[in-house]
Amino acid sequence: MDKRNFIKTLGALSVSPLISANQLSQIKLVSDDLPKIDNDSELWKTIRSHYTLKEDYINLESGYYNIIPNPILEHLIKHVKHVNVEGSYYMRNELKKNKNRVISELAELVGSTSDQIGITRNATESLDLVISGFPWKKGDEAIYAKQDYGTMKEMFEQISDRYGVVNKIVSVPNHPKNDEEIVSLYESQISEKTKLIMICHMINITGQILPVKKICKMAHSYGVDVMVDGAHCVGHFDFSIDDFNCDYYGSSLHKWLATPLGAGLLYINKNKINKIWPLLANGNTNKLDIKRLNHIGTHPVHTDLAISNSIDYIKWIGMKKKEKRMRFLQRYWSDKLRDVRNVIINTPEELNRSCGIGNIGLKNMSPSTMANTLFKKYKIFTVAIDYANVKGCRISPNVFTTTKELDHFIDAVKEMALT
Ligand SMILES: Cc1ncc(COP(=O)(O)O)c(C=O)c1O
Repeated sequence: MDKRNFIKTLGALSVSPLISANQLSQIKLVSDDLPKIDNDSELWKTIRSHYTLKEDYINLESGYYNIIPNPILEHLIKHVKHVNVEGSYYMRNELKKNKNRVISELAELVGSTSDQIGITRNATESLDLVISGFPWKKGDEAIYAKQDYGTMKEMFEQISDRYGVVNKIVSVPNHPKNDEEIVSLYESQISEKTKLIMICHMINITGQILPVKKICKMAHSYGVDVMVDGAHCVGHFDFSIDDFNCDYYGSSLHKWLATPLGAGLLYINKNKINKIWPLLANGNTNKLDIKRLNHIGTHPVHTDLAISNSIDYIKWIGMKKKEKRMRFLQRYWSDKLRDVRNVIINTPEELNRSCGIGNIGLKNMSPSTMANTLFKKYKIFTVAIDYANVKGCRISPNVFTTTKELDHFIDAVKEMALT
């Protein structure tokens, strides 16, 4: 049964006082109700109208969590009602087949195959599952960067305390000269004892994109596995996990894919599935089945259904179109501020090294004062970053952001930098 018919059937199955059979039978794809728009400025205007945005500040902090556009939210609410009508019947009869369908849609979106993909609750779960489930032995070595995300670094510290693993920590420059500089930075720390390298696909505090494929190729030549933290990448820009040939990849879908909170992606290369211990044990003894690593107990299953709606929505926009827009928004403000006195852009200038996220600091102001002033004086919400050689505010606009809002941000920064 194709997705459209499946969803219609799913609607037709349900009768409840809360949501009538008639209403449910009308459940469609999100994109069924969205017009095809060729004109770009019309498209972004329409997309903005899909969001309920606060009027008292400009949100330039979508990096933590992407709020959901109303067309997806409406479908989520229907899914919550549907699962609530069906209860255990849904869990016993529908859950598995729906989850498998969503996994195959997700696999297609990220350029991989269903047998290597799982749905988790977030990037933390996906990545910490790999770090904690890796078959560590005393004296093994791991490599990661100062600029990596806190909870993964903390899991490596725990692994070090628990198994006697030695962690080697590099520092990724904010403005690398070329890919080779990054590759050799990681390579310089490899020894005969190195077992795993963790890298960010996109560093969350600066938006810098790392040369994942080249790092994997180098690491594999030493027999070292690579785990990629792609928390900010799925739904943000176009790429194929299979093309990277990495061993493990984790992402949060509630960031740039705009799914409901509590959705993540786990990728494990099929040759590595039997190597990892599960986070939560289950009865699946097939060492080659990724589902063995993906048991999470009873959870909000309506979220899984809404992932499908988010994928449909992003396909309606066009993944490449979204990537182009995100990069345009970042470059719109960063190019206008790059040469302003006292301004430091902490995001690389080369186009392929960044997308929608950027970081800007001021020589005459601390990051926290900058973020507070932006919020209190100019009604612009950002987040201050002050660690790992990055001093500034992370700026993460979204598909709903207008250039008028960015103009206000640019004027605000100029005023702060020059007075
Ligand atoms: C680079 C990076 N990795 C991992 C995470 C963890 O994401 P989550 O809290 O959704 O698990 C984040 C969150 O911001 C992040 O920026």
